[in-house]
Amino acid sequence: MVLPICLIGNTVLRKKAKDIDKDYPGLDKLIEDMYETMYKSEGVGLAAPQVGKAIRLFVIDGDVMNEEYPDLKGFKHVFINAKMINEEGDEWSFNEGCLSIPGIREDVKRLSKFTLQYYDENWEYHEQVFEGGQARIMQHEYDHLEGILFTDKISPIRRRLIKSKLVSISKGKIIPKYKFVKNK
Ligand code: NI
Repeated sequence: MVLPICLIGNTVLRKKAKDIDKDYPGLDKLIEDMYETMYKSEGVGLAAPQVGKAIRLFVIDGDVMNEEYPDLKGFKHVFINAKMINEEGDEWSFNEGCLSIPGIREDVKRLSKFTLQYYDENWEYHEQVFEGGQARIMQHEYDHLEGILFTDKISPIRRRLIKSKLVSISKGKIIPKYKFVKNK
């Protein structure tokens, strides 16, 4: 089932998401629906807050970017209760977009290495260092769990330039092509 996506201006995107346990109701179905929603809207990652749930869950499938970033070939994963351990390495710029901020892409600087602890969909524990394209997608999705959007991380000048567009999205004057939740 395709779920409607929450857009910038919706308070759920600004909450710090909470851990879940194995008994979280309908978790398998939610993961399945999040993948379906992500593919339908042509995203490479989707975090639970974007579908209105402030829980620490995100899904990623970066395979469509594998020509430019070979490390993303077959990179499809579910991340539950993710916690950042470390972020290090060189800062690099990448042009990011977000399903919650339709029609906007901006260069965002992030560090190249990202170490995360998490559980997968089988509740196996992992602690792993990610780099390159993998790290980039994960850092963006991880930020969603912390209530952070990529537009918080762009230069003050760029932010000023796109401010009116962000307001238009949050007021429903710019709408995406996919199913979305109307802001109150
Ligand atoms: Ni996003």
